[in-house]
Amino acid sequence: MSKDFTVFAGTANPALGAAIVQALGVRLGACAIDRFPDGEVSVRICEPVRRKEVFLVQPTSPPVNDHLVELLALADACRRAAAARITAIIPYFGYARADKRHERREPITGRVMADLLEAVGIAHVVTVDLHAPQIEGFFHAPVDTLTAVPTLCGALRDRLPSDLVVVSPDAGRVSLATHYAQCLGTPVIVLHKRRESGAQTAVTHVVGDVAGRACLIVDDIISTGGTLAASVTALLQAGARPEMIVAATHGLLLTGSRDRLNHPAIREVLVTDTVARTGGGRTCAWCRSHPWSPVPCGGSSPTARSATSTEERREERRYEVTALS
Ligand code: R5P
Repeated sequence: MSKDFTVFAGTANPALGAAIVQALGVRLGACAIDRFPDGEVSVRICEPVRRKEVFLVQPTSPPVNDHLVELLALADACRRAAAARITAIIPYFGYARADKRHERREPITGRVMADLLEAVGIAHVVTVDLHAPQIEGFFHAPVDTLTAVPTLCGALRDRLPSDLVVVSPDAGRVSLATHYAQCLGTPVIVLHKRRESGAQTAVTHVVGDVAGRACLIVDDIISTGGTLAASVTALLQAGARPEMIVAATHGLLLTGSRDRLNHPAIREVLVTDTVARTGGGRTCAWCRSHPWSPVPCGGSSPTARSATSTEERREERRYEVTALS
């Protein structure tokens, strides 16, 4: 690989930046990132980037707005220093859940993100398990979405019971859950979720038979933990075995999420290192973080095992819907 590139890391996840340059066998580019007394972001690139390809590693994880402005400032600094091309590595893409208007007079903040990133000269975005695939279309620049699913399946595979079902906590995660199920060779169960507030969700229906089965609940993001807590309650109510594992790509694990996920039925929570461990998740002994490896979305794991027999496929199509009171 050509060495005529430099990787810089913002303050959102320096450990991830360090892991990336270590894997590439290069050193991290020098930059100074600070805050002015009023909280404004102060950034300086401390080495020449003229005619170089630049990669900026910065998940826009909480505090989302601070990390976003830092990324914008880093990109602007590189653009003004005549970098040849700027690629933003944004493993966790903030505001991805604001990909459409739910009510009148609401913004589409995911689109605003795309406009801002392109305005400062970012010519390529790399992200991981993007919440909504249509966000790619908000950009003129190419967007590569990688997935952590094969990596997480590989980390879990040996410890999963044979009667496991993969559970999508809402309709939006069916494709993610199907990817897990293909990697693990299990059926998929879908929950119907209603969001009542930022931290409160309710599950109204369980689609599929979970009676007596262990569950792997999968999601792209764990934020407040509300979605997963409601999923566990609904699955137990529908007769699932109190043997649940949770896997998610982006563990934001906000303060309070640990308490919400501290349920006797949850054996383990596995997330990746796309988001640095801070705040509420830090002391969570049962929550493991696994390094993600870049796998293109839609690519299959070398160890993938899919349910291929006609019998198995027929079995997967026999959905049973349990309405929860
Ligand atoms: C929602 O559509 C996402 O896929 C996640 O389920 C959600 O963001 C998780 O948030 P929380 O942990 O706050 O329920």
